[in-house]
Amino acid sequence: MKQVYLTGITTTGTPHLGNYAGAIKPAIEASQREDTENFYFLADLHALIKSHDPKAVQQSRLEIAATWIALGLDTDKAVFYCQSDIHEIPALTWLLTCQTAKGLMNRAHAYKAVVQENEEAGSPDPDRGITMGLFSYPVLMAADILMFKAHKVPVGRDQVQHIEMARDIAQRFNHHYGDHFVLPEAEVAESASVLAGLDGRKMSKSYNNTIPLFAPEKKLRKLIMRIKTNSQEPGEPKEADGNTLFEIYRAFATPEQTAEVRQRFADGIGWGEMKQYLFEHLNLLLSEPRERYEALMARPDEIAGVLASGAEKARAQSATFLSELYDAVGIAPIR
Ligand code: TRP
Repeated sequence: MKQVYLTGITTTGTPHLGNYAGAIKPAIEASQREDTENFYFLADLHALIKSHDPKAVQQSRLEIAATWIALGLDTDKAVFYCQSDIHEIPALTWLLTCQTAKGLMNRAHAYKAVVQENEEAGSPDPDRGITMGLFSYPVLMAADILMFKAHKVPVGRDQVQHIEMARDIAQRFNHHYGDHFVLPEAEVAESASVLAGLDGRKMSKSYNNTIPLFAPEKKLRKLIMRIKTNSQEPGEPKEADGNTLFEIYRAFATPEQTAEVRQRFADGIGWGEMKQYLFEHLNLLLSEPRERYEALMARPDEIAGVLASGAEKARAQSATFLSELYDAVGIAPIR
């Protein structure tokens, strides 16, 4: 039996080099394996928890979908869809909500972090600014995962707790109503690189230090030139591992190319020269997908078509499964 891999991408922001190295590249590679079945989706219902800006959510959905397609995701093999197109997901979320202990949600890191911020800010209301969406976010995520009987869920370390919660919720449901759900496992790719951004901290939209994957050539060059470096002079041998320029290069290079650049660090390549080299390498590599990306962004109907056929495949499964679950809980059609 094939292993089912499933992961969601929250549609806030523009995809950047760090997203590529950490999530997109490993996901596309995994989808090329013959022994896996892959569900990749735009978590646009999750986006509404973080972003209340309709234009931004809409734009991010387009950009993320175009990015994955432009980078060569085989959408005939992988099921690629928008979460909001799968109407069975919110329905399953409710069935699961009714089996989820509130105390379990009280322990969710994302929720607790905001409570802690409120307390530290001396707010009289620890739940200030917290919506039910944020509070029950892990239940929606559990529905995403359990709906397609995922075995493995590739995620970043910050998401592992949510997968464990999905397991807990599934177990409780199974215990009560019979064995309907597969218990999922998180898969944290140890090898997936976490890239640093312009200022040397983790590349993340929350730090505003990202390099967009498909920035136009001029912009790409400008951003790379802005990456923070230390005061070492050209000619001084330099440590490659952990260096922002080196790590970005490595994420986009073959092992041979990486070994060569490692040697150039040891030989004392200057930062200016290395930045130029990195720019040329990325620009060459990204120019073709960037063209495809731009063409797709100019033809949203094509993106919509790809997502619609993904949704159709996904719904063939979710519709059947949801009616099985409705039967199980006692809300089957009355005959
Ligand atoms: N919450 C995840 C994130 O922010 C995105 C996501 C939503 C997800 N549903 C999912 C990831 C289901 C894996 C499985 O990164």
